Amino acid sequence: MKKIVLGREELHKGALILVNEKYGITWDTPGELAAIGSNIKKRQDSVLLERQANALLERLLSEIDGWDGILPVSGWRSRQEQQSIWDESMRDNGPEYTRTYVALPGHSEHQTGLAIDLALRQEHIDFICPEFPDTGICGYFKERAADYGFVLRYPAGKENITGIGHEPWHFRYVGIPHARIMTDQNMTLEEYTDYIRQFDSPVHPYCVRVDGRAVCISYIAADSEQTAVWVNETAPYNISGNNVDGFVLTQWLHVEQNVQCSQQERFQSI
Ligand code: DAL
Ligand code: ZN
Repeated sequence: MKKIVLGREELHKGALILVNEKYGITWDTPGELAAIGSNIKKRQDSVLLERQANALLERLLSEIDGWDGILPVSGWRSRQEQQSIWDESMRDNGPEYTRTYVALPGHSEHQTGLAIDLALRQEHIDFICPEFPDTGICGYFKERAADYGFVLRYPAGKENITGIGHEPWHFRYVGIPHARIMTDQNMTLEEYTDYIRQFDSPVHPYCVRVDGRAVCISYIAADSEQTAVWVNETAPYNISGNNVDGFVLTQWLHVEQNVQCSQQERFQSI
């Protein structure tokens, strides 16, 4: 096992950071950004995403043959850009509409580079509320999104939890396997952040099988200055802050560990 020491600032970084009205963005510049389509000669200079989120979105759009039918409308935004959208919407649409569909500057997932608004490609596209129906290519995208690490972030019926109206067009990258778990269990990121907090013992992580591969997820509460996380460095792992109070360790298991784990009932298959 290897000990990883995380500074306080790491709490606010990673694919699982919760960003909403209560938990804002504490830094000015996001991680490495990439233009959507840059890896496959369909580059759209104006729409940027965090590098890993971008690679998975490109893969998903290619896999479903979605480039002609789906238009990425808005990815990473600076705080200033979010402020302009907020101000313009307040002026044009009023406070009720704006608070329903536009996050407060400093509290928008778009500022992280992990969120993408998608539209059905058509002549007129509404920038704030683009059309993204449940049918056709958009419906197909929605069906496959979780397998590529994306969740529908603002679903209908959960407005009182997310604080934002139903947005069929706004997808958030949280990574694999979290997107699969959240989608299958109908959890918003607010609910998932709470849910994972109970798995705070290294000997009792939350273990699931995703596409036949075993993965264990655990929560480590952040210490005031530095937090130590123990990982099995011989297998793939990822650590993300939750932007609230701790870290989420995602540890994939070796193939041989997978075999042993198949005899353990605590593994859920999803
Ligand atoms: N439309 C989403 C909530 C945003 O402005 O970040
Ligand atoms: Zn959005």
